[in-house]
Amino acid sequence: TTTRGTAIVNLDIEGPTISRHLYGHFAEHLGACIYGGFYVGEDSEIPHEGGIRLDVVEALRALEIPNLRWPGGCFADEYHWKDGIGPKESRPRMVNTHWGDVEENNHFGTHEFLALCELLGAEPYISGNVGSGTVQEMSEWVEYLTRDGDSPMVRLRKANGRDEPWRVRFWGIGNETWGCGGNMRAEYYADLARQYATYCRDHGDNTLYRIASGASDNDLAWTETLMKQISCPGCEFTPKNFFQALSLHYYTMAGTWEAKGSATEFDTDTYYRTLAAARRIDRIITGHSTVMDLYDPLRTVGLVLDEWGTWWDVEPGTNPGFLFQQNTLRDALVAGVHFDIFHKHAGRLVMANIAQTVNVLQAMILTDGDRLVRTPTYHVFEMNKGHQDATSLPVHLKLAAGGSHALPDGKELDTLSVSASTKDGALLISLSNLDADAPAEVTLDLRGGSVGTPTARLLTADRPQVFNSPQDPDAVAPRPWDEGLRTDSDRPGLLTVTLPAHSFATVR
Ligand code: AHR
Repeated sequence: TTTRGTAIVNLDIEGPTISRHLYGHFAEHLGACIYGGFYVGEDSEIPHEGGIRLDVVEALRALEIPNLRWPGGCFADEYHWKDGIGPKESRPRMVNTHWGDVEENNHFGTHEFLALCELLGAEPYISGNVGSGTVQEMSEWVEYLTRDGDSPMVRLRKANGRDEPWRVRFWGIGNETWGCGGNMRAEYYADLARQYATYCRDHGDNTLYRIASGASDNDLAWTETLMKQISCPGCEFTPKNFFQALSLHYYTMAGTWEAKGSATEFDTDTYYRTLAAARRIDRIITGHSTVMDLYDPLRTVGLVLDEWGTWWDVEPGTNPGFLFQQNTLRDALVAGVHFDIFHKHAGRLVMANIAQTVNVLQAMILTDGDRLVRTPTYHVFEMNKGHQDATSLPVHLKLAAGGSHALPDGKELDTLSVSASTKDGALLISLSNLDADAPAEVTLDLRGGSVGTPTARLLTADRPQVFNSPQDPDAVAPRPWDEGLRTDSDRPGLLTVTLPAHSFATVR
């Protein structure tokens, strides 16, 4: 049956600003994300600048990527940055023990990453090595990147061809230190985070935003241990900020860790289980935010979800350590739901990074030799980019009929998801109908404004399993969709939107 409901959007009640950094990205030395994806080397016949693929850059520029996290992930905690500078032929090699056990030639290093960020117009977010590095190594990396004038690391940078320091704000102190980043206890890591943060200096006017390696999923105890480090009794709730933010990782899976299921072949039950898993991020962020509120009620410490997205079995015949997966309309709906939830939590959630941008996990782009495919998830990022730096508006959903799906475990999945923001006098509303079979008719009730001349775009396909490929690159692509909208001449604040089954739409 058709889901029917009303979404009340009160234009006079402004929520927090949706940081553009909620639309951030993540690129790791993993499979074909860097090598073959972003970077093809200076001898490649694929058009490039300094080895960086220009078709990938062009496609990503349309997303207005605000930041890019690098070099990992698990790889970050075995990466030694000095191996990735200087003439390429003399850069030491290493084994990438986490991802495929392949040899890493270090041809893509610090200078190449910063050049990529400049081409993308994105801020760099560097994840430093705590697991197998040293305080000195991390401290010198910050100096190499951000110090001006004259110093040992500045001379080294200049000898490698870069006079000016870069501006690097976002700095990760280790990654998943509870797991691949060192298998540490929270108490032990908390001390290390304070120690490393101390020596990650602000040079000149470059001010670091230090991000401590935070929890996975609903590990609230990890978050609490870190928050205790910065609480300052008697400081009127002004924390002692050794680090300015904590990270959080959450991946959407429908199966088990051992059998995650196919990216493209799934039944309706698995489809719903996936979207229920995606919606869990709401409770997870709420849990961590609540713990953070106890120690930091004025919300000066940020929560950074710097890894999120779907994780499926690798495509048949590909290296299991390369995490290469296809991307269907189902993945796009997972992304749409995440963004609605991110917008709601924008008061505490200051950054999020999809894992990963090219050829790994829930990618924006899949490459095949010199060909490139934009995934359904890419289109959600593009359709939603107007929310970046906009003011979040609270949305109240009232469902008259339908609107939830009974899951086999007895729980209910809400099948309608809506968020709204306003910027420069315009209103942008994102809507997802997660129902696999039935349409949804939603009346947007704009309180304190009128509809004007709305325009809409729709992303859907015949089935949630549809994906884009070099043979059919636009099987899932957005299209103008004004026929899905109905205004009411008597009530200028109402707009009725009829969404097809399994679809994502934006209305402006
Ligand atoms: O994104 C793939 C991996 O997932 C990252 O390297 C790690 O941080 C996480 O476990």
